[in-house]
Amino acid sequence: MELLILILSSVFVCVCVNYVIRVLTKNDNNELPPAPPLPPGSAGWPMIGETLDYLNTARDGVPEKFIEDRKKKYCTFPEVCKVFKTSLLLEPMAVMCTAAGNKFLFSNENKLVKSWWPNNIDQIFASSEKSSFHEIRPVLTKHLKPDSLQKFIGIMDAITKEHLDTYWENQKDQYTSTMSLRFFFNIEDPQVVAELEGFITLISAGFISLPINFPGTKLNRAIEASQKMRKYVENMLVEGRKMRTSSPAGDARGGDYDLWSSMLMQTSSVDGQPMKDSDIANKLCGLIIAGYDNVIATLDSIIMYLSELPHVYDAVLKEQMEIANSKAAGELLNWGDVQKMKYTRCVVSEVLRLKPPVLGTFREAITDFIYEGYLIPKGMKLHWNAYGTHKNPEYFPNPEKFDPSRFQGDGPTPFSYVPFGGGAPMCPGREYARFKILVFMHNLVTRFRWEKVFPDEKMIMDPILVPTKGLPIRLYPHASIQRA
Ligand code: HEM
Repeated sequence: MELLILILSSVFVCVCVNYVIRVLTKNDNNELPPAPPLPPGSAGWPMIGETLDYLNTARDGVPEKFIEDRKKKYCTFPEVCKVFKTSLLLEPMAVMCTAAGNKFLFSNENKLVKSWWPNNIDQIFASSEKSSFHEIRPVLTKHLKPDSLQKFIGIMDAITKEHLDTYWENQKDQYTSTMSLRFFFNIEDPQVVAELEGFITLISAGFISLPINFPGTKLNRAIEASQKMRKYVENMLVEGRKMRTSSPAGDARGGDYDLWSSMLMQTSSVDGQPMKDSDIANKLCGLIIAGYDNVIATLDSIIMYLSELPHVYDAVLKEQMEIANSKAAGELLNWGDVQKMKYTRCVVSEVLRLKPPVLGTFREAITDFIYEGYLIPKGMKLHWNAYGTHKNPEYFPNPEKFDPSRFQGDGPTPFSYVPFGGGAPMCPGREYARFKILVFMHNLVTRFRWEKVFPDEKMIMDPILVPTKGLPIRLYPHASIQRA
């Protein structure tokens, strides 16, 4: 009985509160107030919306211009503009303009919003893979957290040394610095490397392209390449397993490729059964694509900035030589050494601020909600864009200036620096990527200086971050500088 009274009184209170709200919010004509407006902005052209302008500003190397232009056009006070509406990739979309907007999206995952990937990506990756990263996220997180990565620092160092010995040392004239899969995944066979790189280039080009699947379009070529790559990787896994069985000792040194494949082979599917080779191959392809381009693009940007800014190069060299000089001959880098790379780490962060390889990603509203006085209806897509806050002088004064000291002390305003995204889908490979990059920089600067063959060469988003002319550089080994 008491329970019944409690329930009835709760219902009564709710009804009363609801009535009072409705009475208070009715206007003089006894009508309910209109729903809040959608954010200001324009849907652009029919179908393609403002996608072309979005892609073109990125290709011109200034993705932030897409956002700045619209802030000026639609907001009375552009410097405090919070959100605008557009239409991208066939979807009506709200674009967040501030660190608070990023925080809002990242902290409302699965409450007000959920991850959303453009239709292109759904088409490129088979539907069975849509939940791919959610399924293996716990495994990734376990293997890619700093504690687990500690033991791989020496292996990363050994692979980097071998890579520089084989492919960089003794380059007579100029060298195209663009790294390769060989470096990233320790895959040696040049034919395999070339084939996989070909697939990756086609797949990445289709991610954020016009969503038209017709023979010859970027999207169509990406879908074909993705199917071939999955088959190819599955065959590699089967061959790799045969080799491991015939030589149980395996490769004592291990390697990155082994890190990924063995990590996934340990994984069980949801029902506790070991994963099928085709599932492992699917996930391995996803990881290769998610990780490879971004790390390579960051290394290219680093090579570019260090050649343009000799004072930054000198400071990185000084820090890295102190570490190199503290080691015995042939001793590999370890966890403690990486912790000492404080200035170099700030340089990497500043490169990722100025040239984040991922423009941003997307979320979808799972319910109607109000953001900053504007209605975001259920189903509307939302976009956070790293360039929007990274190039905003409110968070990064004099934003075009390369200044690693921004990352000393307390660092930037929370949620203004977002090269790895945020919230539940935040990049699980971020620490792995940072270590890989730091180890590479150690080896590169302690061996070489370099200069760009094309001094005016730039990095642009096309739609992934790439150097405009392939980044050929002239390498000057330190020994030859001393001899000269
Ligand atoms: C400099 C290098 C990298 C950058 C800048 C980067 C950036 C990003 C960004 C912005 C996202 C989306 C996060 C979001 O939506 O909030 C992401 C997701 C992801 N990244 Fe990375 N990433 C890098 C390297 C890597 C590496 C090396 C791996 C390999 C393990 C990796 C694996 C992933 C995966 C699996 C996801 C999807 C996570 C999910 O949806 O749950 N990334 N990354």
